[in-house]
This record gives sequence, structure tokens and C-alpha cells, in this order.
Amino acid sequence: MGYTSNHTERREEICALFTASFTESEGIGEGKLIGHLVADIFDTVAEEDLFAVSALDQGAVVASILFTRMGYEEEGRSVFLLSPVAVATEHQGKGIGQALLRHGLNSLKEGGVDVVLTYGDINFYSKVGFAQISESEAAAPMPLSYPHGWLGQSLSAATLEPLRGPSTCVPAFRNPDLW
Ligand SMILES: CC(C)(COP(=O)(O)OP(=O)(O)OC[C@H]1O[C@@H](n2cnc3c(N)ncnc32)[C@H](O)[C@@H]1OP(=O)(O)O)[C@@H](O)C(=O)NCCC(=O)NCCS
Repeated sequence: MGYTSNHTERREEICALFTASFTESEGIGEGKLIGHLVADIFDTVAEEDLFAVSALDQGAVVASILFTRMGYEEEGRSVFLLSPVAVATEHQGKGIGQALLRHGLNSLKEGGVDVVLTYGDINFYSKVGFAQISESEAAAPMPLSYPHGWLGQSLSAATLEPLRGPSTCVPAFRNPDLW
């Protein structure tokens, strides 16, 4: 399994992967929602605020994860949001998702990112270092319909100290249907 962070040349392949994987697991509406989200992120987020990494099998993208910068008004630490995450349906359950996440988190750490937050199932994300956090530890950028899914980890310290101030996400995520 190889990895690439080249999302410019792989744009259509990555968008198609997210649409197909979420359509299979959660239905056509969710597939479209996440496919459009990823296209919107690629179209609107500045290079320095986006990190996308994909796993390759025989030259084809089989899994992708995106990280986009968050802003915490009173914070000196750099914070990224991990979302979305998808593994091609036929490749799920083989450890590819966890391996890709470890690779991506390691690259962010080497790039000086201090904290990564995400919103999802703790049963999966706890395998790669995430823990549940409260909104007093890190304000969410949008109202959360499932607060138990708000997760975080520090890449630079043993424990995640609370993040100060209200938060912002990139405009592509300012859609209540995603939260
Ligand atoms: C969720 C997903 C990214 C996991 O990737 P994967 O490569 O299949 O997962 P791995 O093989 O690395 O890890 C499997 C482990 O995670 C758990 N897991 C996998 N998918 C899970 C899910 N949707 N919810 C909770 N746990 C999950 C499994 O129980 C398994 O645990 P085990 O190793 O103790 O048996 C992948 O299944 C996927 O793309 N699903 C559809 C899209 C999606 O739901 N994305 C995440 C949104 S938050």
C-alpha cells in the first residue's frame, strides 16, 4: 500500500471514492452530500489550510482522508479538522482506514500541527488516538446533533489541554446537515 498527498491530479478519483463509499454505507443522499463536500473543499480551501492523503493499491485510490484548518480565536496552537474519511467498500475491514489515518496524523505532526479534532464514531477513531471531548474543551464550529461524536487528540503533548475561544471551520463545512 502506497500513499499520496497529490489531490490535484487525483481530484475526480477522490470525489468518486467518497460518493461511492458513503452511498454504499449510508444511502444516495449522504453519498451526494459528502461527494459535493469534498469537491467544495478542493475548490475553495487554500493549499496551506488543506491536507488530503490517499492510500493507493496498484496505482488506484482506495481510501482518502481530508484535514482542513480550524480557527480558535484565542489559541496559539494550530488545529485541524479530520473529515471526511472513506475506504472503498470492497477494501473495508482490512486495516486500510487505520493505517491511512496513522500515516496522515504523522504527516500533520511533522508539519507542526498541534491538535486534530473530528466528528464520528469513537469505536473506530479511538483506534488511532482520538478520545471524546466536550464542547467546553473545544468549541464546535457548528451546533452538534450528536455531541458524543465530538473527538480530539493532541499531536504535540501527552494530553489535550482545552482550546480557548470560539471556533471556525472552512466555509465548505458551514452546512448544518454535516453536523
Ligand atoms: C469507517 C471506515 C473509514 C473504516 O475503515 P476500514 O479500513 O474499514 O477500517 P479498519 O479495517 O482500519 O478498521 C476496522 C476496525 O474499525 C471498526 N470499524 C470499521 N468501520 C466502522 C464504523 N463505521 N463504525 C465503527 N467502527 C468501525 C471495526 O469494528 C474494526 O475493529 P476491529 O479491528 O477491532 O475489528 C470505512 O469502513 C468506511 O469508509 N466506511 C464508510 C464511510 C464512513 O462511514 N466514514 C467514516 C465517517 S465518520
